[in-house]
Amino acid sequence: MTDHIIVERPAGHPGIQVIRFNRPEKKNAITRAMYSAMTEALAAAEDDETIRATVFLGTEGCFSAGNDMGDFLAVAMGGGMPREVIEFLYALVRSTKPLISGADGLAIGIGATMHFHCDMTVASARSQFRTPFVDLALVPEAASSLIAPRLMGQQRAFAMLAAGEPFSGEEAREAGIVWKLCAPEQVEAAALSAAARLAAKPPEALRIARDLIRGNREEITARIDEEARHFSERLRSAEARAAFEAFMRR
Ligand code: COA
Repeated sequence: MTDHIIVERPAGHPGIQVIRFNRPEKKNAITRAMYSAMTEALAAAEDDETIRATVFLGTEGCFSAGNDMGDFLAVAMGGGMPREVIEFLYALVRSTKPLISGADGLAIGIGATMHFHCDMTVASARSQFRTPFVDLALVPEAASSLIAPRLMGQQRAFAMLAAGEPFSGEEAREAGIVWKLCAPEQVEAAALSAAARLAAKPPEALRIARDLIRGNREEITARIDEEARHFSERLRSAEARAAFEAFMRR
């Protein structure tokens, strides 16, 4: 149990489940308990026919600063990519219901790549999508190495995933990882209303349309596994440990 993830059914929005990051004092960095809470919520949505769509939200000015660095450091002392992370990624890929996200501000690491698994992402112009994997001596995750080149082409995918270049909200929209931009204070309402419109559609037709658009799940989970093997090995490397320690010492 963690109160750093809030799962709710917002009043006035039937059929919608919200999964909200609630750790603003740590820029919504994601701990193992938070991954587990999100995985449970996605599983609950699968089993509940009254839930027609899930919306991921952060807090004002911050979606998420990605994986908790303290957790990374703990893993660097021994172990691999935490099981909780992989289970969350599988749950994203296997979701049969629409996933919508609203990102205002920072979206770093998995806080950026998880949007690749969402069907419609609303962001603000001040958003920043950034994946400093290589700077941390890590490699891309969440099947981003497969999905990003398809979405935005080789050059932009490399700039984001390998060079760690930040993408503004506008650049992310142009690159196809954001559906539309709106003012920061409207991000949440826009994401909820997109989800509400989906929740009102015939669910079976929507499920089939979504499956056709998203493509082969096995291919995506196979890439998650392949990336995770490299990621786990890199996590235990001396260069990764040095990068995590440098962040913790700041
Ligand atoms: N894991 C753990 N704690 C994190 C964190 C993370 N990924 N990101 C931020 N925090 C914590 C900071 O340690 C700080 O905690 P403190 O107040 O106890 O010192 C707090 O959140 C606020 O962060 P701070 O760095 O002071 O805010 P900022 O506005 O100057 O910078 C970031 C924000 C996100 C740019 C910066 O914190 C950062 O680079 N974080 C790491 C992002 C990252 O590399 N994620 C992993 C990607 S694979």
